[in-house]
Amino acid sequence: MADFYITTAISYVNGSPHIGHAYELILTDVIARFHRLMGDRVYFLTGTDEHGQKVQQSARARGIPAQQIADEISAQFKAMGPRLGATNDDFIRTTEERHKAVVRELLQRLFDKGDIYLGEYRGFYSTRQEQFLQEKDRNPDGSWPELYGEVSEIIEPNYFFRLKAYQPWLVEFLAKNEDFVFPKFRQKQVVEFLKEPLNDLCISRPRERLEWGIPLPFDPGYVTYVWFDALVNYYSAVAAKPGVWPAALHVIGKDILVPPHAVYWPIMLHAAGIELPRGILAHGWWLRGGSKMSKSAGNVQDPLALADEFSADSLRYFLIREMNVGQDGDFSRELFLARYNSDLANDLGNLVNRVLNMTGRFAGGAVPAAGVGGDAEAELRALWGATAGEYVALFGRHQFHTGLERLFAFVKSINGYVERRAPWKLGKSAEPADKALLETSLATMAESLRLASVALRPVMPAASERIAGVLGYAPAGRWTDELVWGGALAGARVAPSLVLFPRPQPAAGKAP
Ligand code: ME8
Ligand code: MG
Repeated sequence: MADFYITTAISYVNGSPHIGHAYELILTDVIARFHRLMGDRVYFLTGTDEHGQKVQQSARARGIPAQQIADEISAQFKAMGPRLGATNDDFIRTTEERHKAVVRELLQRLFDKGDIYLGEYRGFYSTRQEQFLQEKDRNPDGSWPELYGEVSEIIEPNYFFRLKAYQPWLVEFLAKNEDFVFPKFRQKQVVEFLKEPLNDLCISRPRERLEWGIPLPFDPGYVTYVWFDALVNYYSAVAAKPGVWPAALHVIGKDILVPPHAVYWPIMLHAAGIELPRGILAHGWWLRGGSKMSKSAGNVQDPLALADEFSADSLRYFLIREMNVGQDGDFSRELFLARYNSDLANDLGNLVNRVLNMTGRFAGGAVPAAGVGGDAEAELRALWGATAGEYVALFGRHQFHTGLERLFAFVKSINGYVERRAPWKLGKSAEPADKALLETSLATMAESLRLASVALRPVMPAASERIAGVLGYAPAGRWTDELVWGGALAGARVAPSLVLFPRPQPAAGKAP
């Protein structure tokens, strides 16, 4: 059973994971963790897309069987999850029998009902993009855009799926479900796309041209077109698990929204009589030096190298803080270091140590109970009230970067509060009023740090847990209770210190 079934795209196994893949996995994990904290039963799926021309070609280029490259690269993607703190429940590979059986069953069902038919295909085919091209895809001078790589003309009998017949249904569906695709401007793009008549989709590839695929159950001379195979993973992975389907959200990159996820997939499901997913989130690209980070461009950054050097949490923070979901974002080591130093090491890391250090020095290491405070306490508390509500609402709307911006403004305000109350001065005073204020200020610092760390949990789960640990705080598991300002820490014993974000060594000889 699940209330919220969420998926990532499944990556091709023609190259190792890069920052773009890490981002998608982390973004999906943040959403999954957020929903768990809000009380949903979440089911989270990721995996690898292993069939098709691209993989067959990469294997041939290396002189190894396709299954071998698939095993090797899929293992890298699978291993990335735990190293980046991803909480996926399952990892599907399209070469697994549980997947292939469902694809065959779906193909047979559509064939039996007449939605798949044998026709003749004539057209230009791009191997790099695994797709047939149309005249409108050409450059104004008649050549093919670089993106398609080598393009060749092909004429062959093939099987087709009746997309066109379902076009009016899809147009109506999108009109009735205005929030099917996030962000909204991407839904508009789908609607625009559907203003042109659709062609039926060629869903087979003759075996002599492509061996590496799922044979059609009704004609073993052909294998299944990779997209018709890959999309089914979302359904095949949970077909045997009652109460999980339909997906609440498919998280994908903007390059695979139109047509595969927003046109083929809804029509495939509808034609087969299967319930539709409730939504699609299309994120933007990580760019490097102005162009999309990609295996083929060769401008990739290994996410695990960064996670090893700094921490998985700091990578998670950077990716989620820096990217406005749906837009593109620039990746560089400088940008990463700027966030790491200012937000993490400086603002958050220093705050943690101030709280621990002062609680040790002035209260024997046990958080005092808060007394009646003054304006400074009231202001900080009011700021938290506004921040918490807004933060949760922003997360609910996928505005994580703005949520984190607000949260770190709160962290800065806690540091400002510490400066204002200056416990190190109060600690020198013998006045009873100062002593009471010292206790209140220590309690306020600890409580506000606890709240900030609880709020950080979906983005920085390990750091959040470590902060809870040094504050002597046992997380309760649900945000509804945990994000409320209270006195839960009174009497808690804190640790003497914690270095969460060590200052990076001077980057001698490191390329940006
Ligand atoms: O498209 N920035 O696989 P894939 C952000 N197998 N996201 C990026 C990115 C970048 N620079 N580069 C890639 C496929 N991605 C298909 C999916 S789903 C049934 C089949 C994202 O390995 C990309 O947008 O090319 C996609 O969502 C995912 O990584 C896998 O890309
Ligand atoms: Mg791609």
